[in-house]
Amino acid sequence: MRNLIGYDRLASVYAILEWLMFGRDLQCARVALLDKIPSANQVLILGDGDGRLLTELLIHFPRAKVLSVDQSSAMLKRQDHSVSLVKAIDRIEFCCVDATTFKPERGKYDLLVLPFFLDCFDAPTLTTCLPNWLSGLNDDGAVYLVDFVQPESGYARWRGKLLLWIMHAFFQIATDLQHRELADLPDLLATLGWQQTERIDRNNGLVTSRLYVRSSST
Ligand SMILES: C[S@@+](CC[C@H](N)C(=O)[O-])C[C@H]1O[C@@H](n2cnc3c(N)ncnc32)[C@H](O)[C@@H]1O
Repeated sequence: MRNLIGYDRLASVYAILEWLMFGRDLQCARVALLDKIPSANQVLILGDGDGRLLTELLIHFPRAKVLSVDQSSAMLKRQDHSVSLVKAIDRIEFCCVDATTFKPERGKYDLLVLPFFLDCFDAPTLTTCLPNWLSGLNDDGAVYLVDFVQPESGYARWRGKLLLWIMHAFFQIATDLQHRELADLPDLLATLGWQQTERIDRNNGLVTSRLYVRSSST
């Protein structure tokens, strides 16, 4: 629960800070692959923050029921407000809990949405928690990952390193984030048996939107 107060404090200024650093790129990344997700009636979204992807998801999938898990009550309050504006409050359940202790109902969900959430954790924590979060998906379930990745080479790599360093330093001060290294999220998902089916990168390869299914289901 270390990040709780930090994210509560950040909730009201989160979108502005994001815009100052990345313009519209992160919001474009959040919605980039919504059209490619085949169907989603039961959705689990972890760490959606102020609700900007959640709202788009509810509009895009008008029959979907969503469980949104976030440890910050201030972020969830903003989600609640955004969801009521799109009149979808009857399709959403909020759960204010530390996701590292959260156990999803096994096999219940068609879609697991991870928007700039996995970057809150170091690789050892993800190695423990990711399989638990993924266990909520049914056999045909998909993972929608939107997050930062370290670009592979050249100018993009050095630029990415600098921006990631700045962000880690900021979140360390603002939320008591403990790690300074971004885990290799695509590699972790591949190791756990998930195969990428769609991908859009932006911001010089620093920001990625990816869709995954179980390797055996392609
Ligand atoms: C970096 S912000 C990303 C917010 C949003 N998804 C976005 O696209 O900008 C991380 C979000 O995950 C939540 N979070 C961080 N660690 C968490 C944890 N251990 N359990 C539950 N939520 C957590 C924070 O409260 C915050 O809303």
